[in-house]
Amino acid sequence: MEFKEGLTFDDVLLVPKYSDITSRSQTDLTTKLSRNLSINIPFVSANMDTVTESSMAGAMARAGGIGIIHRFLTIKEQANEVLKVKRSGSVMIENPYSISADKSIEDALDYAEDKEISGLLVVDSNSKLIGIVTERDLLFANKENKIKDVMTKDVITAKLGVTLEESKEILHKHRIEKLPIVDDSGIVKGLITSKDITNNADFPNASKDGKGRPLVGAAVGVKGDFLERSESLLEAGADVLVVDIAHGHSENAISTVKNIKKAFPNCELIAGNIATAQGAEDLIKAGVDAVKVGVGSGSICITRVITGSGVPQLTAVMDCAKIGNDHGIPIISDGGTRTSGDATKALASGASTVMVGSMLGGTDESPGTVLTKNGKRFKVYRGMASLAASIGRKSKETGSMSLDDDLNDYVAEGVEAMVPYKGTVTDILKQLTGGVRSGLSYCGAHTIPQMQENAEFIKMSRAGFAESQPHDVSLM
Ligand code: XMP
Repeated sequence: MEFKEGLTFDDVLLVPKYSDITSRSQTDLTTKLSRNLSINIPFVSANMDTVTESSMAGAMARAGGIGIIHRFLTIKEQANEVLKVKRSGSVMIENPYSISADKSIEDALDYAEDKEISGLLVVDSNSKLIGIVTERDLLFANKENKIKDVMTKDVITAKLGVTLEESKEILHKHRIEKLPIVDDSGIVKGLITSKDITNNADFPNASKDGKGRPLVGAAVGVKGDFLERSESLLEAGADVLVVDIAHGHSENAISTVKNIKKAFPNCELIAGNIATAQGAEDLIKAGVDAVKVGVGSGSICITRVITGSGVPQLTAVMDCAKIGNDHGIPIISDGGTRTSGDATKALASGASTVMVGSMLGGTDESPGTVLTKNGKRFKVYRGMASLAASIGRKSKETGSMSLDDDLNDYVAEGVEAMVPYKGTVTDILKQLTGGVRSGLSYCGAHTIPQMQENAEFIKMSRAGFAESQPHDVSLM
Protein backbone atom coordinates (compact mmCIF):
# COMPACT_ATOMS: atom_id res chain seq x y z
CA MET A 1 0.00 0.00 0.00
CA GLU A 2 1.27 3.44 -0.85
CA PHE A 3 0.88 6.13 1.78
CA LYS A 4 -0.33 9.48 0.55
CA GLU A 5 1.06 12.44 2.48
CA GLY A 6 -1.44 14.56 4.38
CA LEU A 7 -0.52 18.06 5.52
CA THR A 8 -2.21 20.66 7.63
CA PHE A 9 -1.79 24.32 8.48
CA ASP A 10 1.21 23.96 10.83
CA ASP A 11 3.10 21.88 8.24
CA VAL A 12 3.38 24.69 5.69
CA LEU A 13 3.96 28.38 5.14
CA LEU A 14 3.09 30.66 2.24
CA VAL A 15 6.18 31.91 0.44
CA PRO A 16 6.18 35.75 0.41
CA LYS A 17 5.80 37.29 -3.06
CA TYR A 18 6.37 40.78 -4.46
CA SER A 19 3.43 43.02 -3.60
CA ASP A 20 2.34 46.38 -5.01
CA ILE A 21 -0.18 46.80 -2.19
CA THR A 22 0.53 49.85 -0.06
CA SER A 23 -2.46 49.56 2.28
CA ARG A 24 -4.60 46.65 3.44
CA SER A 25 -7.67 48.57 2.24
CA GLN A 26 -6.56 47.86 -1.35
CA THR A 27 -7.44 44.20 -0.87
CA ASP A 28 -10.90 42.84 -1.61
CA LEU A 29 -12.20 39.89 0.42
CA THR A 30 -15.39 39.35 -1.59
CA THR A 31 -15.82 35.65 -2.22
CA LYS A 32 -18.30 33.00 -3.23
CA LEU A 33 -20.06 31.09 -0.50
CA SER A 34 -21.88 28.90 -3.00
CA ARG A 35 -22.70 28.77 -6.71
CA ASN A 36 -25.05 31.79 -6.64
CA LEU A 37 -24.27 33.50 -3.36
CA SER A 38 -21.41 35.90 -2.60
CA ILE A 39 -20.35 37.35 0.72
CA ASN A 40 -17.99 40.21 1.51
CA ILE A 41 -15.58 38.51 3.92
CA PRO A 42 -14.65 34.82 3.72
CA PHE A 43 -15.98 33.81 7.16
CA VAL A 44 -18.94 31.61 8.03
CA SER A 45 -19.96 30.88 11.63
CA ALA A 46 -20.38 27.17 12.37
CA ASN A 47 -23.79 25.55 12.68
CA MET A 48 -23.20 24.55 16.31
CA ASP A 49 -25.47 25.16 19.30
CA THR A 50 -22.73 27.03 21.16
CA VAL A 51 -21.89 29.22 18.15
CA THR A 52 -24.73 30.26 15.83
CA GLU A 53 -28.23 31.43 16.59
CA SER A 54 -29.73 34.72 15.42
CA SER A 55 -27.44 37.01 17.41
CA MET A 56 -24.26 35.50 15.92
CA ALA A 57 -25.77 35.23 12.43
CA GLY A 58 -26.85 38.89 12.53
CA ALA A 59 -23.37 40.00 13.60
CA MET A 60 -21.70 37.82 10.93
CA ALA A 61 -23.90 39.33 8.20
CA ARG A 62 -23.31 42.88 9.45
CA ALA A 63 -19.55 42.27 9.19
CA GLY A 64 -19.90 40.89 5.65
CA GLY A 65 -19.89 37.14 6.37
CA ILE A 66 -22.74 34.75 7.11
CA GLY A 67 -23.90 32.55 9.97
CA ILE A 68 -25.53 29.13 9.69
CA ILE A 69 -28.23 28.62 12.33
CA HIS A 70 -27.74 25.19 13.93
CA ARG A 71 -30.42 22.53 13.54
CA PHE A 72 -30.76 21.34 17.15
CA LEU A 73 -33.94 23.34 17.65
CA THR A 74 -37.55 22.56 16.82
CA ILE A 75 -38.49 23.53 13.27
CA LYS A 76 -40.47 26.49 14.63
CA GLU A 77 -37.61 27.69 16.82
CA GLN A 78 -35.04 27.40 14.03
CA ALA A 79 -37.27 29.21 11.52
CA ASN A 80 -37.85 31.91 14.13
CA GLU A 81 -34.06 32.39 14.47
CA VAL A 82 -33.86 32.83 10.68
CA LEU A 83 -36.73 35.33 10.77
CA LYS A 84 -35.04 37.34 13.52
CA VAL A 85 -31.94 37.74 11.36
CA LYS A 86 -33.91 38.64 8.25
CA ARG A 87 -35.89 41.27 10.13
CA SER A 88 -32.85 42.89 11.69
CA GLY A 89 -30.79 45.35 9.73
CA SER A 90 -33.00 45.66 6.66
CA VAL A 91 -33.95 49.25 5.86
CA MET A 92 -37.65 48.45 5.76
CA ILE A 93 -39.08 45.46 7.61
CA GLU A 94 -41.80 43.89 5.47
CA ASN A 95 -44.76 42.42 7.35
CA PRO A 96 -43.82 43.88 10.75
CA TYR A 97 -45.17 42.11 13.81
CA SER A 98 -48.57 43.43 14.86
CA ILE A 99 -51.24 42.75 17.45
CA SER A 100 -54.94 43.48 17.79
CA ALA A 101 -56.18 46.17 20.20
CA ASP A 102 -58.32 43.69 22.17
CA LYS A 103 -55.35 41.58 23.28
CA SER A 104 -54.02 41.97 26.80
CA ILE A 105 -50.77 43.69 27.82
CA GLU A 106 -49.52 40.27 28.92
CA ASP A 107 -50.13 38.87 25.40
CA ALA A 108 -48.13 41.76 23.93
CA LEU A 109 -45.25 41.28 26.38
CA ASP A 110 -45.07 37.54 25.62
CA TYR A 111 -45.22 38.16 21.88
CA ALA A 112 -42.53 40.87 21.99
CA GLU A 113 -40.27 38.67 24.14
CA ASP A 114 -40.67 35.69 21.79
CA LYS A 115 -39.82 37.79 18.75
CA GLU A 116 -37.14 39.81 20.59
CA ILE A 117 -38.61 43.15 19.56
CA SER A 118 -39.27 46.33 21.49
CA GLY A 119 -42.61 47.41 20.03
CA LEU A 120 -45.68 46.25 18.14
CA LEU A 121 -47.99 47.86 15.63
CA VAL A 122 -51.67 47.65 16.51
CA VAL A 123 -53.96 46.79 13.60
CA ASP A 124 -57.64 46.09 12.98
CA SER A 125 -58.93 42.97 11.25
CA ASN A 126 -58.08 44.46 7.81
CA SER A 127 -54.44 45.12 8.78
CA LYS A 128 -55.20 48.85 9.00
CA LEU A 129 -52.91 50.65 11.44
CA ILE A 130 -54.78 51.95 14.50
CA GLY A 131 -51.97 52.39 17.02
CA ILE A 132 -48.51 51.47 18.25
CA VAL A 133 -47.23 50.10 21.58
CA THR A 134 -43.61 50.17 22.69
CA GLU A 135 -41.74 48.75 25.68
CA ARG A 136 -42.37 51.97 27.62
CA ASP A 137 -46.16 51.62 27.22
CA LEU A 138 -46.13 48.01 28.37
CA LEU A 139 -43.49 47.78 31.06
CA PHE A 140 -45.34 48.88 34.21
CA ALA A 141 -48.90 48.63 32.91
CA ASN A 142 -51.49 46.38 34.53
CA LYS A 143 -50.99 43.09 32.64
CA GLU A 144 -54.71 42.43 32.41
CA ASN A 145 -55.46 45.72 30.69
CA LYS A 146 -56.02 45.74 26.95
CA ILE A 147 -53.64 47.06 24.34
CA LYS A 148 -56.19 49.72 23.39
CA ASP A 149 -55.85 51.23 26.92
CA VAL A 150 -52.14 51.98 26.53
CA MET A 151 -51.44 52.31 22.81
CA THR A 152 -50.50 55.57 21.10
CA LYS A 153 -53.31 56.30 18.67
CA ASP A 154 -52.01 59.24 16.64
CA VAL A 155 -49.23 57.37 14.93
CA ILE A 156 -46.76 59.21 12.71
CA THR A 157 -46.56 57.22 9.48
CA ALA A 158 -45.03 57.49 6.02
CA LYS A 159 -46.26 56.31 2.65
CA LEU A 160 -44.80 53.35 0.78
CA GLY A 161 -41.91 54.61 -1.35
CA VAL A 162 -40.55 57.01 1.29
CA THR A 163 -36.75 57.38 0.91
CA LEU A 164 -34.19 56.67 3.61
CA GLU A 165 -33.34 60.36 3.93
CA GLU A 166 -37.01 61.34 4.23
CA SER A 167 -37.52 58.65 6.89
CA LYS A 168 -34.56 59.97 8.88
CA GLU A 169 -36.01 63.48 8.78
CA ILE A 170 -39.44 62.29 9.98
CA LEU A 171 -37.90 60.20 12.79
CA HIS A 172 -35.80 63.16 13.90
CA LYS A 173 -38.56 65.78 13.60
CA HIS A 174 -40.95 63.79 15.79
CA ARG A 175 -38.23 62.32 18.05
CA ILE A 176 -39.56 58.80 17.42
CA GLU A 177 -37.79 55.49 16.81
CA LYS A 178 -40.35 53.62 14.72
CA LEU A 179 -41.96 54.73 11.49
CA PRO A 180 -44.77 52.49 10.18
CA ILE A 181 -45.17 52.53 6.39
CA VAL A 182 -48.74 52.41 5.10
CA ASP A 183 -50.54 52.50 1.76
CA ASP A 184 -53.26 54.99 0.78
CA SER A 185 -55.90 53.06 2.78
CA GLY A 186 -53.77 52.97 5.93
CA ILE A 187 -52.92 49.27 5.53
CA VAL A 188 -49.54 48.42 7.06
CA LYS A 189 -46.88 47.73 4.44
CA GLY A 190 -43.69 47.93 6.49
CA LEU A 191 -41.76 49.46 9.34
CA ILE A 192 -38.59 51.56 9.38
CA THR A 193 -36.73 51.84 12.69
CA SER A 194 -33.95 54.20 13.76
CA LYS A 195 -31.92 51.17 14.92
CA ASP A 196 -31.98 49.61 11.45
CA ILE A 197 -31.01 52.91 9.80
CA THR A 198 -28.05 53.27 12.17
CA ASN A 199 -27.03 49.65 11.61
CA ASN A 200 -27.05 50.19 7.86
CA ALA A 201 -24.82 53.23 8.13
CA ASP A 202 -22.46 51.54 10.62
CA PHE A 203 -22.00 48.35 8.57
CA PRO A 204 -21.44 49.32 4.93
CA ASN A 205 -19.80 45.95 4.22
CA ALA A 206 -22.80 43.88 5.36
CA SER A 207 -23.86 40.81 3.34
CA LYS A 208 -27.39 41.40 2.09
CA ASP A 209 -30.02 39.77 -0.07
CA GLY A 210 -31.76 41.47 -3.01
CA LYS A 211 -34.17 43.21 -0.62
CA GLY A 212 -31.40 44.65 1.56
CA ARG A 213 -31.95 42.09 4.33
CA PRO A 214 -29.01 40.33 6.07
CA LEU A 215 -27.96 37.00 4.56
CA VAL A 216 -28.45 33.94 6.75
CA GLY A 217 -28.14 30.18 6.36
CA ALA A 218 -29.59 27.25 8.28
CA ALA A 219 -28.62 23.62 8.75
CA VAL A 220 -30.78 20.54 8.25
CA GLY A 221 -30.09 16.89 9.02
CA VAL A 222 -30.46 13.84 6.81
CA LYS A 223 -33.20 12.02 8.69
CA GLY A 224 -36.83 12.51 9.66
CA ASP A 225 -38.21 15.98 9.19
CA PHE A 226 -35.53 17.44 6.88
CA LEU A 227 -37.95 18.29 4.03
CA GLU A 228 -40.50 19.92 6.32
CA ARG A 229 -37.65 21.76 8.08
CA SER A 230 -36.17 22.93 4.76
CA GLU A 231 -39.55 24.25 3.69
CA SER A 232 -40.04 26.26 6.90
CA LEU A 233 -36.49 27.63 6.81
CA LEU A 234 -36.83 28.72 3.19
CA GLU A 235 -40.22 30.28 3.93
CA ALA A 236 -38.66 32.21 6.82
CA GLY A 237 -36.13 33.58 4.33
CA ALA A 238 -33.01 31.39 4.71
CA ASP A 239 -30.70 32.23 1.80
CA VAL A 240 -28.88 28.92 1.91
CA LEU A 241 -29.39 25.52 3.52
CA VAL A 242 -26.60 23.26 4.77
CA VAL A 243 -27.03 19.49 4.83
CA ASP A 244 -25.11 18.72 8.00
CA ILE A 245 -23.76 15.21 8.57
CA ALA A 246 -20.45 14.07 10.05
CA HIS A 247 -19.78 11.61 7.19
CA GLY A 248 -21.00 13.54 4.15
CA HIS A 249 -19.61 11.08 1.60
CA SER A 250 -22.49 8.74 2.26
CA GLU A 251 -25.72 7.51 0.78
CA ASN A 252 -27.61 9.39 3.51
CA ALA A 253 -26.10 12.73 2.50
CA ILE A 254 -26.39 12.18 -1.24
CA SER A 255 -30.04 11.12 -1.13
CA THR A 256 -30.87 14.06 1.17
CA VAL A 257 -29.24 16.51 -1.26
CA LYS A 258 -31.19 15.02 -4.17
CA ASN A 259 -34.47 15.11 -2.24
CA ILE A 260 -34.06 18.73 -1.15
CA LYS A 261 -33.04 19.83 -4.64
CA LYS A 262 -36.03 17.97 -6.11
CA ALA A 263 -38.47 19.57 -3.67
CA PHE A 264 -36.91 23.05 -3.80
CA PRO A 265 -35.01 23.40 -7.11
CA ASN A 266 -34.11 27.07 -6.46
CA CYS A 267 -32.70 26.42 -3.02
CA GLU A 268 -29.01 27.25 -2.61
CA LEU A 269 -27.65 24.08 -1.02
CA ILE A 270 -24.37 23.30 0.74
CA ALA A 271 -23.52 19.81 1.98
CA GLY A 272 -20.75 18.20 4.01
CA ASN A 273 -18.59 17.25 5.59
CA ILE A 274 -16.23 15.36 3.34
CA ALA A 275 -12.45 15.23 3.01
CA THR A 276 -11.64 13.69 -0.39
CA ALA A 277 -11.81 14.50 -4.07
CA GLN A 278 -14.23 11.61 -4.62
CA GLY A 279 -16.45 12.93 -1.82
CA ALA A 280 -16.53 16.36 -3.50
CA GLU A 281 -17.22 14.82 -6.92
CA ASP A 282 -20.14 12.75 -5.60
CA LEU A 283 -21.79 15.63 -3.73
CA ILE A 284 -21.39 17.92 -6.74
CA LYS A 285 -22.96 15.26 -8.99
CA ALA A 286 -25.86 15.05 -6.52
CA GLY A 287 -26.49 18.78 -7.12
CA VAL A 288 -24.88 20.81 -4.30
CA ASP A 289 -23.93 24.47 -4.74
CA ALA A 290 -20.97 24.31 -2.35
CA VAL A 291 -19.09 21.58 -0.51
CA LYS A 292 -18.04 21.73 3.13
CA VAL A 293 -14.68 20.09 3.79
CA GLY A 294 -13.25 18.87 7.09
CA VAL A 295 -13.31 15.49 8.81
CA GLY A 296 -11.86 15.48 12.30
CA SER A 297 -10.13 18.85 12.00
CA GLY A 298 -12.33 20.80 14.43
CA SER A 299 -11.00 21.87 17.82
CA ILE A 300 -13.61 19.80 19.68
CA CYS A 301 -13.53 16.81 17.29
CA ILE A 302 -12.38 13.39 18.37
CA THR A 303 -13.50 11.64 15.18
CA ARG A 304 -9.89 10.81 14.28
CA VAL A 305 -9.24 9.44 17.77
CA ILE A 306 -12.43 7.39 17.95
CA THR A 307 -12.67 6.14 14.36
CA GLY A 308 -9.13 6.50 13.02
CA SER A 309 -10.55 8.35 10.02
CA GLY A 310 -9.86 11.78 8.59
CA VAL A 311 -7.57 13.78 6.33
CA PRO A 312 -5.31 16.60 7.53
CA GLN A 313 -7.18 19.78 6.66
CA LEU A 314 -4.86 21.48 4.16
CA THR A 315 -4.60 18.35 1.99
CA ALA A 316 -8.36 17.77 2.25
CA VAL A 317 -9.09 21.31 1.05
CA MET A 318 -6.54 21.12 -1.78
CA ASP A 319 -7.89 17.79 -3.06
CA CYS A 320 -11.51 18.95 -2.94
CA ALA A 321 -10.77 22.40 -4.40
CA LYS A 322 -9.36 20.81 -7.58
CA ILE A 323 -12.71 19.12 -8.15
CA GLY A 324 -14.65 22.20 -7.06
CA ASN A 325 -12.71 24.31 -9.57
CA ASP A 326 -13.46 21.89 -12.41
CA HIS A 327 -17.20 22.26 -11.72
CA GLY A 328 -17.31 25.92 -10.62
CA ILE A 329 -18.41 24.89 -7.13
CA PRO A 330 -16.93 26.71 -4.10
CA ILE A 331 -15.29 24.85 -1.22
CA ILE A 332 -15.74 25.75 2.44
CA SER A 333 -12.85 24.81 4.75
CA ASP A 334 -14.50 23.74 8.01
CA GLY A 335 -12.61 23.17 11.26
CA GLY A 336 -9.13 23.63 12.64
CA THR A 337 -8.83 27.38 12.07
CA ARG A 338 -7.08 28.88 15.10
CA THR A 339 -5.54 32.01 13.63
CA SER A 340 -5.91 34.37 10.68
CA GLY A 341 -2.80 32.63 9.31
CA ASP A 342 -4.66 29.28 9.24
CA ALA A 343 -7.59 30.95 7.47
CA THR A 344 -5.24 32.50 4.89
CA LYS A 345 -3.62 29.11 4.24
CA ALA A 346 -7.07 27.49 3.85
CA LEU A 347 -8.09 30.15 1.31
CA ALA A 348 -4.76 30.00 -0.52
CA SER A 349 -5.12 26.23 -0.82
CA GLY A 350 -8.42 26.62 -2.68
CA ALA A 351 -11.22 27.23 -0.18
CA SER A 352 -13.49 30.17 -0.99
CA THR A 353 -14.64 30.56 2.61
CA VAL A 354 -13.70 29.31 6.06
CA MET A 355 -16.21 28.02 8.60
CA VAL A 356 -15.17 28.85 12.14
CA GLY A 357 -16.33 27.45 15.49
CA SER A 358 -14.02 27.86 18.47
CA MET A 359 -12.71 31.27 17.41
CA LEU A 360 -16.25 32.66 17.49
CA GLY A 361 -17.43 30.68 20.53
CA GLY A 362 -17.06 32.56 23.84
CA THR A 363 -18.27 35.84 22.35
CA ASP A 364 -21.22 37.99 23.38
CA GLU A 365 -23.08 36.77 20.30
CA SER A 366 -22.61 33.02 20.88
CA PRO A 367 -25.43 31.23 22.77
CA GLY A 368 -24.85 30.43 26.46
CA THR A 369 -23.86 32.32 29.57
CA VAL A 370 -20.48 33.51 30.79
CA LEU A 371 -19.00 31.30 33.55
CA THR A 372 -16.25 32.28 35.97
CA LYS A 373 -13.50 29.86 36.96
CA ASN A 374 -10.45 30.85 39.02
CA GLY A 375 -11.20 34.51 38.32
CA LYS A 376 -11.29 34.02 34.55
CA ARG A 377 -14.37 34.18 32.34
CA PHE A 378 -15.39 31.41 29.93
CA LYS A 379 -18.26 30.16 27.80
CA VAL A 380 -19.10 26.56 26.98
CA TYR A 381 -18.10 25.40 23.48
CA ARG A 382 -18.96 21.82 22.65
CA GLY A 383 -18.83 19.37 19.76
CA MET A 384 -22.22 18.61 18.27
CA ALA A 385 -21.37 14.92 18.54
CA SER A 386 -20.26 15.24 22.18
CA LEU A 387 -22.08 13.37 24.92
CA ALA A 388 -23.20 16.67 26.49
CA ALA A 389 -24.77 17.86 23.22
CA SER A 390 -26.52 14.50 22.82
CA ILE A 391 -27.92 14.62 26.34
CA GLY A 392 -29.10 18.17 25.64
CA ARG A 393 -30.88 17.06 22.47
CA LYS A 394 -32.37 14.00 24.12
CA SER A 395 -33.65 15.93 27.13
CA LYS A 396 -35.18 18.52 24.81
CA GLU A 397 -37.02 15.79 22.91
CA THR A 398 -38.17 13.83 25.96
CA GLY A 399 -38.30 16.53 28.63
CA SER A 400 -35.97 14.47 30.85
CA MET A 401 -32.42 15.34 31.86
CA SER A 402 -31.40 11.81 32.73
CA LEU A 403 -28.79 9.82 30.88
CA ASP A 404 -30.74 6.66 30.07
CA ASP A 405 -29.53 3.28 28.79
CA ASP A 406 -29.89 4.24 25.20
CA LEU A 407 -27.41 7.11 25.63
CA ASN A 408 -24.90 4.78 27.28
CA ASP A 409 -24.67 3.13 23.88
CA TYR A 410 -23.77 6.44 22.30
CA VAL A 411 -20.21 6.77 20.98
CA ALA A 412 -19.19 10.42 21.20
CA GLU A 413 -17.10 11.98 18.41
CA GLY A 414 -16.74 15.35 20.07
CA VAL A 415 -15.88 16.85 23.43
CA GLU A 416 -17.42 19.48 25.65
CA ALA A 417 -15.05 22.31 26.43
CA MET A 418 -14.75 25.91 27.54
CA VAL A 419 -13.28 28.80 25.61
CA PRO A 420 -12.24 32.13 27.12
CA TYR A 421 -14.86 34.86 27.06
CA LYS A 422 -13.78 37.18 24.24
CA GLY A 423 -16.20 40.13 24.11
CA THR A 424 -17.90 41.00 20.87
CA VAL A 425 -17.49 38.94 17.70
CA THR A 426 -17.12 42.16 15.70
CA ASP A 427 -13.64 42.65 17.18
CA ILE A 428 -12.65 39.03 16.49
CA LEU A 429 -13.74 39.42 12.86
CA LYS A 430 -11.74 42.65 12.52
CA GLN A 431 -8.60 40.78 13.64
CA LEU A 432 -9.35 37.81 11.38
CA THR A 433 -10.07 39.88 8.28
CA GLY A 434 -7.13 42.21 8.98
CA GLY A 435 -4.82 39.19 9.15
CA VAL A 436 -6.20 37.69 5.93
CA ARG A 437 -5.85 41.05 4.13
CA SER A 438 -2.19 41.17 5.17
CA GLY A 439 -1.88 37.52 4.09
CA LEU A 440 -3.14 38.47 0.61
CA SER A 441 -0.54 41.20 0.47
CA TYR A 442 2.27 38.75 1.38
CA CYS A 443 1.10 36.63 -1.57
CA GLY A 444 1.15 39.69 -3.85
CA ALA A 445 -2.61 39.38 -4.34
CA HIS A 446 -5.48 41.89 -4.23
CA THR A 447 -8.23 39.26 -4.13
CA ILE A 448 -8.76 35.73 -2.88
CA PRO A 449 -8.85 34.18 -6.41
CA GLN A 450 -5.58 36.01 -7.20
CA MET A 451 -4.01 34.63 -4.03
CA GLN A 452 -5.09 31.11 -5.04
CA GLU A 453 -3.27 31.58 -8.37
CA ASN A 454 -0.13 33.09 -6.82
CA ALA A 455 0.13 30.92 -3.72
CA GLU A 456 3.27 28.89 -3.26
CA PHE A 457 3.42 26.70 -0.19
CA ILE A 458 6.63 25.57 1.44
CA LYS A 459 6.70 22.58 3.75
CA MET A 460 8.48 23.22 7.02
CA SER A 461 10.36 21.12 9.53
CA ARG A 462 9.66 21.01 13.26
CA ALA A 463 12.46 23.56 13.65
CA GLY A 464 10.78 25.78 11.06
CA PHE A 465 7.52 25.52 12.98
CA ALA A 466 9.24 26.36 16.29
CA GLU A 467 10.89 29.36 14.63
CA SER A 468 7.46 30.53 13.43
CA GLN A 469 6.16 30.87 17.00
CA PRO A 470 7.28 33.54 19.48
CA HIS A 471 10.50 32.06 20.93
CA ASP A 472 13.31 32.75 23.36
CA VAL A 473 11.31 35.46 25.11
CA SER A 474 9.06 35.49 28.16
CA LEU A 475 5.60 36.45 26.98
CA MET A 476 3.87 39.25 28.91
P1 XMP B 1 -13.32 24.64 14.99
O1 XMP B 1 -11.93 24.10 14.90
O2 XMP B 1 -13.49 25.92 14.25
O3 XMP B 1 -14.24 23.54 14.28
O4 XMP B 1 -13.76 24.75 16.42
C1 XMP B 1 -15.61 23.69 14.10
C2 XMP B 1 -16.15 22.52 13.29
O5 XMP B 1 -16.00 21.29 13.99
C3 XMP B 1 -16.95 20.36 13.49
N1 XMP B 1 -17.63 19.72 14.63
C4 XMP B 1 -17.39 18.47 15.05
N2 XMP B 1 -16.59 17.50 14.55
N3 XMP B 1 -17.24 16.05 16.31
C5 XMP B 1 -16.53 16.29 15.18
O6 XMP B 1 -15.81 15.39 14.71
C6 XMP B 1 -18.08 16.98 16.87
O7 XMP B 1 -18.69 16.75 17.91
C7 XMP B 1 -18.16 18.24 16.20
N4 XMP B 1 -18.88 19.38 16.44
C8 XMP B 1 -18.54 20.25 15.46
C9 XMP B 1 -17.92 21.12 12.63
O8 XMP B 1 -17.61 20.83 11.29
C10 XMP B 1 -17.62 22.57 13.00
O9 XMP B 1 -17.98 23.49 12.01
